Amino acid sequence: MGIKVQQVSHSQAARLAKLHKSCFQQSWGIAEFSRLLENQVVTGLMYLEDDRDIGLALLQSIAFETEILTFGIIPSRRGRGFGYGLLGGICDYARTIDSKAIFLEVSNSNPAGINLYTGYGFEQVGLRKKYYADRSDALIYRLPLTSAKL
Ligand SMILES: CC(C)(COP(=O)(O)OP(=O)(O)OC[C@H]1O[C@@H](n2cnc3c(N)ncnc32)[C@H](O)[C@@H]1OP(=O)(O)O)[C@@H](O)C(=O)NCCC(=O)NCCS
Repeated sequence: MGIKVQQVSHSQAARLAKLHKSCFQQSWGIAEFSRLLENQVVTGLMYLEDDRDIGLALLQSIAFETEILTFGIIPSRRGRGFGYGLLGGICDYARTIDSKAIFLEVSNSNPAGINLYTGYGFEQVGLRKKYYADRSDALIYRLPLTSAKL
């Protein structure tokens, strides 16, 4: 079985949008991915299992910090450690560009996301009350790259 992380440009916006749609109820479209990836500080990562697209991450890296803008594993491949695996790929990428930490926001109504990030070693550093459209809170997590688990 071959697992790999692939960096993709805006030309792959349709692939990313398709994956995003299968991961999220409110998904981002092709134009959104294309627009984001035209920004030089934004990086797209695809996660492949035997050349099949199974996960994605969009990152924004500024001033030695990398923010995860979105992250998902397709439903049929969840619960197998691929979430941790893709986080490992993000850490590897972030180190190559000399980022010192990774941060992200996740809804307090997303236990899978919270468990994934805390299980990997992220620590909560902030809270935005009623931040999302469903009025759930945004939890802000940060991982210093020196302490990454994988
Ligand atoms: C969150 C998500 C990425 C997890 O992916 P995954 O491949 O299933 O994760 P893993 O198999 O690597 O599991 C890692 C940890 O996440 C947690 N986890 C995963 N699925 C979970 C679930 N349904 N409920 C509770 N915790 C869960 C567990 O702590 C697990 O560790 P463990 O197996 O040692 O208990 C996936 O469910 C997903 O894409 N969800 C929709 C998009 C999303 O919420 N993205 C994150 C916020 S932007």
